[in-house]
Amino acid sequence: MECVTRRDFVRTSVAAGAAVATATAASMAAQVAVGGSATAQHIKIVGISCSPRKAKTTAASLRVCLEAAKEVSPNIEVELIELAGMKIPGSLAAGLPLEPGQEDDFGKLVPKLSDPKVYGIIIGTPVYFSNMTALCKAFLDRCITFYKNNLQLSNKVAGVLAVGSARNGGQELTIQSVQAALMCQEMIIVGNGRPAARIGATVWNRSKDDVTEDEFGMTTAKNLGRRVAEVALRLRGVSG
Ligand SMILES: Cc1cc2nc3c(=O)[nH]c(=O)nc-3n(C[C@H](O)[C@H](O)[C@H](O)COP(=O)(O)O)c2cc1C
Repeated sequence: MECVTRRDFVRTSVAAGAAVATATAASMAAQVAVGGSATAQHIKIVGISCSPRKAKTTAASLRVCLEAAKEVSPNIEVELIELAGMKIPGSLAAGLPLEPGQEDDFGKLVPKLSDPKVYGIIIGTPVYFSNMTALCKAFLDRCITFYKNNLQLSNKVAGVLAVGSARNGGQELTIQSVQAALMCQEMIIVGNGRPAARIGATVWNRSKDDVTEDEFGMTTAKNLGRRVAEVALRLRGVSG
């Protein structure tokens, strides 16, 4: 075994430190050159709550998810979008015109989601009869806009979260159903990663619209947020 004296160790460490400092400075200079600012590596992860009820259990679970995503790196910013109250007529996906007096808010979402800074999207939906809500389906159908526009969601990372009033109320089936639609958009689907590495976040609204008591579900939500963030950073080429 090679014997390293303390002096050798100190000398090599100082040299290594200087090399790292030089590399860091070079990397920062490159960032400024490419992006015009030291924040050029920033990426965004967007959560979309597809509950017709504003600020209820799906939104609360997504907040937990996004918070965990943000903790992965200072290079990550997050935004929660709630579809509650928005008018998203699904029939427009089939090319039908707006009916007289009908409103459509989907256009507001288009620039937000096609933003190249958005590297990850987390869809959250309540479980309605073992599947996604009608609002979620209408939203996913309207995402045909991105599909037609040169697959604008392609290669963005996607995670799915479902909340039900029963522990096994169809969360996994619901998640799969949403994932199938996202795969049509060529998105990169991830689950909740280690340690269990399951399909996504499965949350139980076990007591009066308070999901924080569902320790298991909260863990899946945190892990999903972390996993989406990790893969998004990799795609961006940022280590953390
Ligand atoms: C029409 C309808 C169907 C539902 N079906 C299910 C179901 O199949 N399984 C389940 O666990 N919960 C079911 N629920 C309960 C909701 O998933 C649950 O209350 C959820 O927390 C609501 O999300 P929100 O608080 O974000 O609105 C249903 C609720 C409604 C209104």
